[in-house]
Amino acid sequence: MKILVIGSGGREHALAYTLAASPQVSDVLVAPGNAGTAFERKCRNVPVAADDLPALLALAQAEGVALTVVGPEGPLSLGVVDAFTAAGLRIFGPTQAAAQLEASKAFTKGFLERHNIPTAGYAVFTDAKEACDYVAKRGAPIVVKADGLAAGKGVVVAMSIAEAQAAIRDMLSGALLGNAGARVVIEDFLEGEEASFIVVAGKDQTYVPMASAQDHKRVGDGDSGPNTGGMGAYSPAPVVTAEVHARACREVIEPTLAGMAAEGRPFQGFLYAGLMIDKTGAPFVIEFNARMGDPETQPILMRLESDLVTLLNAAIDGTLAANPPQWSADATCGVVMAAEHYPATPAKGDVIAGLDAGFGTSAKVFHAGTTLKDGHAETSGGRVLCVVGKGADIRAAQAAAYAAVDQISWRGEFHRRDIGWRAIARLP
Ligand code: AMP
Ligand code: GLY
Repeated sequence: MKILVIGSGGREHALAYTLAASPQVSDVLVAPGNAGTAFERKCRNVPVAADDLPALLALAQAEGVALTVVGPEGPLSLGVVDAFTAAGLRIFGPTQAAAQLEASKAFTKGFLERHNIPTAGYAVFTDAKEACDYVAKRGAPIVVKADGLAAGKGVVVAMSIAEAQAAIRDMLSGALLGNAGARVVIEDFLEGEEASFIVVAGKDQTYVPMASAQDHKRVGDGDSGPNTGGMGAYSPAPVVTAEVHARACREVIEPTLAGMAAEGRPFQGFLYAGLMIDKTGAPFVIEFNARMGDPETQPILMRLESDLVTLLNAAIDGTLAANPPQWSADATCGVVMAAEHYPATPAKGDVIAGLDAGFGTSAKVFHAGTTLKDGHAETSGGRVLCVVGKGADIRAAQAAAYAAVDQISWRGEFHRRDIGWRAIARLP
């Protein structure tokens, strides 16, 4: 069968690579893809933009695509799932109404409150003065978030009242994020350790968890500096113990799926809960995404031993219980190699050297911000590659990842040297 993957990042390369590994699959079309998917076995890039719904639909129909998998949030919040479903095409992802869980932080905070799902206390503002007064009363640290989609850049964890007020003014002035910043959500600061808890949600509130992961959002070693889309991730996340896992299912995932169904927005697709786990092991929702994480997808899928096509079809058909995913006992560690000046104004157009080095079976290079030019890969975005290493434990996985990272270079390239450090610190 033919599969269509929508998107062009590292997550989509990992999805395409994993779907192509299924013996059920003859071709994976990637719209629009990157230099990595261009060369992947069974994969083919198609020059259709990820948010061009009519062209995506026409492509799927013309090619006889049996299953479409949506990578990024953009097309989901535009209603790509609604459009494909209305045309009788099989697609895995949430409807536009369900994707609100990611598209609007204000919707999500209200939803969490309505359904008693644990999250930080908050208030929503459109007026800068009212927001600043609230922050002055509430104190710091405090968190200021733009309401709309801001590609991971709409959040400021302010350590002082002045910093929070500056962020409020920046966002509400529209200068920084345009419309995405027209409303701000101000949240109490949560203390603990973060985890990315992603489930495959299927028909009738059925679901199965993916392997746990932890993302490194800050740009610098030791989790310092500004937030990014993610500088690396690893799986499993030891903070998600069996008990935390059970609590995340019971206290977050199940009431969320039930609540969305009760509100007439049943959620089917990858549901990503960004959790803060406190000292007692209690999970709090920081955010939801209506898709897989990037870069979490890359290390998570490198541990998947069962067939991803079977899993996603089972979700759509409501047969997940009979088709649970199988995970490798190995750990994986994904290191993002970024372009100069990321996350602010990443450089583009640099030629990447070393991609043809032999990386063996313990590392895999996923492309993100790359394009093909004259037969070679050039940088075209902030997060350029995600190099995933696999090993018996996180230390071995990290070593495998960096051995591959050290063979690749381009002008201005940089990466963190400590992806996985929290898990390594827990090793005996
Ligand atoms: P978000 O885009 O909502 O996931 O926020 C980005 C990052 O900001 C999160 O991964 C956390 O590291 C941090 N963050 C967001 N909200 C809070 C909060 N209420 N308390 C502490 N840290 C937060
Ligand atoms: N890595 C965080 C995200 O995908 O939102």
